[in-house]
Amino acid sequence: MRIFLIGYMGCGKSTMGRRLSQLLDVTFIDLDKYIEEKYIKTVPRIFAEEGEEAFREKERASLKEVAEFDEVIVATGGGAPCFFDNMKVMNETGLCVFLDVETEVLADRLIHSKTERPLIKGKSQEELVAFIEEMMEQRRPFYEKAKCVLQGKEILPEQVLAEIHTEK
Ligand code: S3P
Repeated sequence: MRIFLIGYMGCGKSTMGRRLSQLLDVTFIDLDKYIEEKYIKTVPRIFAEEGEEAFREKERASLKEVAEFDEVIVATGGGAPCFFDNMKVMNETGLCVFLDVETEVLADRLIHSKTERPLIKGKSQEELVAFIEEMMEQRRPFYEKAKCVLQGKEILPEQVLAEIHTEK
């Protein structure tokens, strides 16, 4: 079993991944955390010191590594599916689930989140809504290459479990 959770920042990939890993008794990998441990640098520092392009290279290399692990649930960063042929890698090596959460919910969660996210740093709720909508338009075609798409304000672990069982 190898599952990739994808979707915009704040859609709940990490929370969902942790919960599913408990329910399915498999290992949870947060790709951003994996990158931070592999390169001994936080994601904000990689962005600040090396730029986004270098981060995407590191993200790509890390994704390739985790795509070789078995019995894992991987929560990717929001941008991971949209660079290189990362979607192809994920679709070929595992089951990809897109958590398609409404913009207002994403903005609300991101405003209150403690995680530092370089791409949205300092944005107000209003700016955030506009930014998400614009970016979602570019990202959606990549996200929609996922085999499973779940939509809603709140997506429950049971919904993902049902998808996993259908695919088996
Ligand atoms: C990013 C999302 C972040 C992190 C980086 C870039 C993006 O992960 O990888 O800040 O491009 O959407 P989360 O989706 O876990 O916040």
